[in-house]
Amino acid sequence: MFQLRTDEEVELLRQSNLLVSATLAAVASLMKPGVSTMEIDQRAEGFIRDHGGVPGFKGYQGYPATLCVSINDEVVHGIPSRRVLKDGDIVSVDCGVLMNGFHGDSAFTFTIGVVKPEVLKLIRVTKECLKLGISQAVTGKRIGDIGHAIQKHAEINGFSVVREMVGHGVGRHLHEPPEVPNYGKPGTGEVLQKGLTIAIEPMINLGKRHIHQDQDGWTIRTADRKPSAHFEHSIVVKDQIADVLSDFNIIEEAVSKV
Ligand code: MF3
Ligand code: CO
Repeated sequence: MFQLRTDEEVELLRQSNLLVSATLAAVASLMKPGVSTMEIDQRAEGFIRDHGGVPGFKGYQGYPATLCVSINDEVVHGIPSRRVLKDGDIVSVDCGVLMNGFHGDSAFTFTIGVVKPEVLKLIRVTKECLKLGISQAVTGKRIGDIGHAIQKHAEINGFSVVREMVGHGVGRHLHEPPEVPNYGKPGTGEVLQKGLTIAIEPMINLGKRHIHQDQDGWTIRTADRKPSAHFEHSIVVKDQIADVLSDFNIIEEAVSKV
């Protein structure tokens, strides 16, 4: 039903995704007060090109930058600008790489200085949601099982799930079928098959789930202006356990040294 990847294609997707992760690790040292989101974007673009890739988002439906940098109440698709990071911010950095014909796509939410405990909990729970979603991405399960696992964990913790923006298939195109919602009912939706490559990307809000789009045509923001967190991995569906193509470990290592 959906395109399934050969082992060779999966290895190319892994290379693109590992370059995305290395790029996010490379910008970790810039995640501090006073740095502009444009500087972060420029560093990321240079790093990607130095390593043989091209930015995967730049030019996509007219998107102007390498990264999406979304601060606090910005959910996703924040455009890099002269805005500078400040103490207490949380920052989703979403990065794409195109290399050898395949796209990598992954996102990580960073903290700047001292962040409120309830917002730290939002980040922790969102990362746990991603992990729980990934644990459902095995042969025979369905798209709705992924979304249900994410939604349940977010909501028992008192948070809410953005509905309008979803995960997606990833491969020769940045966005391929199927859509991968972060909410759903168990046992519903398309059946997952070995070799399906998808990006799972929970966007979890501290307050209500509703969002607005800014006048810039890109930035998605919570309607109640409360913070939102976002993590994304690209993965391959396998029989027993999903194969995660992007890598948070190198980002977390870099963060611990900042
Ligand atoms: N990870 C994001 C997404 O899948 C990145 C897209 S940004 C865009 O929606 F500019 F390329 F659209
Ligand atoms: Co994505």
